[in-house]
Order: sequence, then structure tokens, then C-alpha cells
Amino acid sequence: MSQCNLGEPWRVQMNADVQAAAAKHPELKVIFKDAQNDTLQQRAQIEEFVSSKVDLLIISPKEAQPLTEPVARALDAGIPVIVLDRRLLGDKFTCFIGADNKKIGKAAGEWIAKALGGKGNVIELMGLQTSTPGQDRHSGFLEGIAGSDLKIIFSADMKWLEPNSRQEMESALSRFDKVDLVYAHNDPGAHGAYLAAKAAGREKQIKFVGIDALPQEGVGYVQQGILDVTFQYPTGGAEAIDTALKILHGETVPKEIVLGTRRFDKDNVAQGGEELK
Ligand code: FRU
Repeated sequence: MSQCNLGEPWRVQMNADVQAAAAKHPELKVIFKDAQNDTLQQRAQIEEFVSSKVDLLIISPKEAQPLTEPVARALDAGIPVIVLDRRLLGDKFTCFIGADNKKIGKAAGEWIAKALGGKGNVIELMGLQTSTPGQDRHSGFLEGIAGSDLKIIFSADMKWLEPNSRQEMESALSRFDKVDLVYAHNDPGAHGAYLAAKAAGREKQIKFVGIDALPQEGVGYVQQGILDVTFQYPTGGAEAIDTALKILHGETVPKEIVLGTRRFDKDNVAQGGEELK
């Protein structure tokens, strides 16, 4: 299992989900490697897995382009590959598992347009733009707000990281007096922006929107009134192990498994959120 980093709670949860699902199958042994958010390190770790002849590789890649070729080489060496959450380019892998980020971005955009009555000043703090969830959460969002009078007054690539997001938000706040809402591509990003606004005494005038909805993170923020809404981004850890077992048993699996998602806002959080159709 090649994990691109363990610096964020969501990825710690993904590994825990993989581990818990694998623990039910004593015939499976999962070897975890953490690339520490370094693409070159992740490439090297995949090469190590290939030369040690693992039976199957699960990868959650940091970036699409630079990790496409090492994964293709693993497949050429006869190792089935499950790609989790972030996509690669092309189709040289066995199965991709993940939620539909375009759909999540679009739902966020529609929620935002409605919450602001179709107009207002929005800041977009984007996930790493060389990773597919960052690209899709942006393009989906644009689709969701199309036709409204919302203005994106500031946008920045915070690379999924809370400290970056906080810093970008500080500069946005120093430039703009009227900010109605922050759309961040993940909950750490939304929380970083909230902290910047709170430090400036402006958090009550701004709505905050995030994505991930871990129970102990984003959902908790909604319960505490820090975030207005968050959209669940399931880790796919359990599904990866199910799929791995099928592949190892010689069964055919779909090329792509799309995971569902839920919306959590203050009106539905007590009922466990609501499934996105
Ligand atoms: C964790 C993370 C999540 C996000 C996902 C996208 O590294 O940034 O917050 O939803 O990656 O791949």
C-alpha cells in the first residue's frame, strides 16, 4: 500500500480502513509505505514494491502525471494495481476506486449559490492542482455556480494543507473587505481559512464550506458551527481490500468503482447527513 502522505487525518483514516478490512483476512499481509507528500519518494517506493514482487499494489498517488509511468511498469511486471482516490493518466492500472469529485464540486457550487441567494464574494482555496480531485472539485464547482452572480474574488492552490490555507486566507482578508464565503477543497483547508478569519475577528461574517466529512474532523466542525457544510469523501479503504481479494482470487473486477457521498450541514448533521443523488 503506497500512501502519498500521512500528514492529514483523512489519509491516516484511509490506512486504518485498509488495515481493518485486511485484518479480517489472515491470508493477507499489507505492507504500508508513506511517501511523505514527496512524488519522487512515492515513485521510488513503487519501484521497491515491484522489485520485491508483491502480489498486488494499492496506491493513493500524490500527483497524476509523474506516477502514471511507475504504475504502468508495475502492471507490465504482472502486478495488479488498485488506484485509490486520486487518479493517474491513461488506463494502465487494474481498477480505480474513488468518489466522483466533479459531482461533489458541483453539489458544493449549487449549495453555495443557494445559500448566498445567487450573489456574493467567494474565495476558493483549491486542493493541489496537479492532483485530479483538486482539478475536479474546481471544474465541478464552476458548473455548480454557472448562471449565478457569484464572484470568485480570490483563489489559490493551498495544496490540501491547512497552514497554506490559513496563509492564503490572511492575504485574501487583507485585500478584500467583503468576503461572504470560503469554498475550500478539503476540511483542513476550510478550517485553516476559518482560523485566519477568526484571528481577524471576521469569522461571523463568512460562511465556510469544506469536503471530506470525517466524523472526528469536518462533521465535528459542522456540529460546532465552524463549517456551514461539508461533503463526505469516503476513503475507499475497505473497498480496496474487497477488490484486492477478488483480483487475487482470479475474479474480474470493474475498471472503475465509484463511491457515494453525503452532505452534512447544520440542518441534517444530527440525522447523519444526506446522501447526494
Ligand atoms: C488528504 C486529502 C483529502 C482530500 C484528498 C484528495 O491528503 O487532501 O483531504 O479529500 O486528499 O485526494
